[in-house]
Amino acid sequence: MSQNSKKVEEVIKKSEMSIDEGREITIRSFKYNPSNPDSKPKFVDYKLRETPGMTLYIALTKIKATIDNDLSSDFVCRAGICGACGMLVNGKPQLACKTLTSDFEGGKIELLPLPTFKLIKDLSVDTGTWMKNMSLRVNSWIVSKEKTDISKIEKPIEPEVAQEVFELDRCIECGLCVASCSTAIMREDFVGAVGLNRVARFQVDPHDERTDEDFYELIGDDDGIFGCMSLLACEDHCPKKLSLQSKIAYMRRKMVQV
Ligand code: SF4
Ligand code: FES
Repeated sequence: MSQNSKKVEEVIKKSEMSIDEGREITIRSFKYNPSNPDSKPKFVDYKLRETPGMTLYIALTKIKATIDNDLSSDFVCRAGICGACGMLVNGKPQLACKTLTSDFEGGKIELLPLPTFKLIKDLSVDTGTWMKNMSLRVNSWIVSKEKTDISKIEKPIEPEVAQEVFELDRCIECGLCVASCSTAIMREDFVGAVGLNRVARFQVDPHDERTDEDFYELIGDDDGIFGCMSLLACEDHCPKKLSLQSKIAYMRRKMVQV
């Protein structure tokens, strides 16, 4: 046997051992299908063996493949990039693909769909419609009188300004900030930290010709900048670690002066 095949065999043996030796964990998941009149909201317990490096994404995929193929949850990238896999994990909004099961000492993990968004089924919610409505509400696009000419190179901007725009653009629209926001949970018209962050992105972009007064007209009300109660939960739960609260505080101070 070659050296390489020996190594592969060792790795397989090791992973088989750890599959057998992993502790038993219990995933307690909410189940409900609002489009089925016979469906009633309930919790279902799934018991499975924990494997090294197991994330909630892996655990849910295993449950769907081996125990309950009717369980619904959303995933696309499995790498914290697409923002599809947000859910309440033991009461906290988190990305399932970035959450290790080993972080839960007792091995008991309760999953619920994100609040605020329309429930599709079980752990799957419609963040897309919420984000689309928010984008329309905050006019999430460059506003300029200049006619776009795609044959020309875009007007250059200072590197540090571009860096600030890129930083604000790192939002993945996962909705965790919305699900953790008391105002957003109480008032469906609130644009949330994600919406205010979006406005901040256009405010710093010199390609956008809107003035401070224009932005005040857009979000200078209770659905916008003055709806935030500064409870900081948005920033605490943002998986991209965006400085949401300092940005909101800065914008609010600026708008008071308009
Ligand atoms: S601001 Fe953070 S928590 Fe909110 S949608 Fe964007 S990435 Fe998610
Ligand atoms: S699957 Fe894309 S962020 Fe989790």
